[in-house]
Amino acid sequence: MSSIAIICSGGDVSGMNPAIKHFVEYSLKKGLTPYFVYDGYEGLIDNKIVEASYKDVSGIIIRGGTLIGSARSKRFMQPEFRAIAKQNLDALDIHMLVVLGGDGSFRGLHAFYKEHGVQFCGIPSTIDNDIHGTDYCLGVDTALNIIKSSIDSIRDTASSFRRAFVIETMGRDCGYLALISAITSGAELCLVPEIAYDLKEYEEDFKEQIKNGRRYFIAIVSEGIEQDSQEIANWFEEKIGIESRVSILGHIQRGGNPTIYDRLMAYKFVTHAINGLLEGKEESVICYSKKGFEFKSIDEVTSSKYHLDLELVQFL
Ligand code: F6P
Repeated sequence: MSSIAIICSGGDVSGMNPAIKHFVEYSLKKGLTPYFVYDGYEGLIDNKIVEASYKDVSGIIIRGGTLIGSARSKRFMQPEFRAIAKQNLDALDIHMLVVLGGDGSFRGLHAFYKEHGVQFCGIPSTIDNDIHGTDYCLGVDTALNIIKSSIDSIRDTASSFRRAFVIETMGRDCGYLALISAITSGAELCLVPEIAYDLKEYEEDFKEQIKNGRRYFIAIVSEGIEQDSQEIANWFEEKIGIESRVSILGHIQRGGNPTIYDRLMAYKFVTHAINGLLEGKEESVICYSKKGFEFKSIDEVTSSKYHLDLELVQFL
């Protein structure tokens, strides 16, 4: 019986546990022996590779995070540690890997494949939704729903107090979470790294809105913009004349019970990944777009930068 292992690498997302559950169940169904690699590529190097069974994954579908842990591994960037990882896999006769991670994680795997020929399939998994070649990354829907609930709660207090709230979302250099959250929460201001802005352009309009009875403002800003969120709050106080507060949502966005959409996407991504490996796909990433699921090469996914769909801006 062939063996296959699953690894989570980089920032965890809610949706990894449903993926791990389905990985075990679908591997067994396909006659494969499933293994967990604990703690990302670090665990591959340190030989934290353990055979998995049905009972390991019972009940995990509802949990955020990842049962098998994740890590950002500096050692895996070095060939000598990748050689150790290969020895560990060989000892268990594992020649196929399913990796849940972002483009940085896929780059590491690409090097591993080129040196040692270990067959793998990547599943795009990051709340940032910033991987080129896929419209959806696992975990994004849950993160957006957590952000939505947070903004809804903040709105209650903002409206009671006549305040402006500057709410900072994660996303590194990608404004996807901020943009979608701003549109779907009816925010008055949205600032993302991809779009240049000049706060002066909002001043007259915002002051007029206050004159006309506006009690509060919701501003959604992405962590990757050049200004600090506190500077935006100061601008509200000094130039618009409204008391303001900053709320940095932080790692709350990475946790929480996976949404139905992420559970379903986890199952679909894993099924395609395992099928692809069994069909002989050597080194690919399973991507999702309007066209459906498609395997893309690591080069295609990692050679370009993800571009935010600027058409969405019209909905702000
Ligand atoms: O890439 C996912 C992400 O959550 C980013 O949005 C954020 O900038 C970063 O990871 C935070 O990383 P860490 O968990 O190491 O603080």
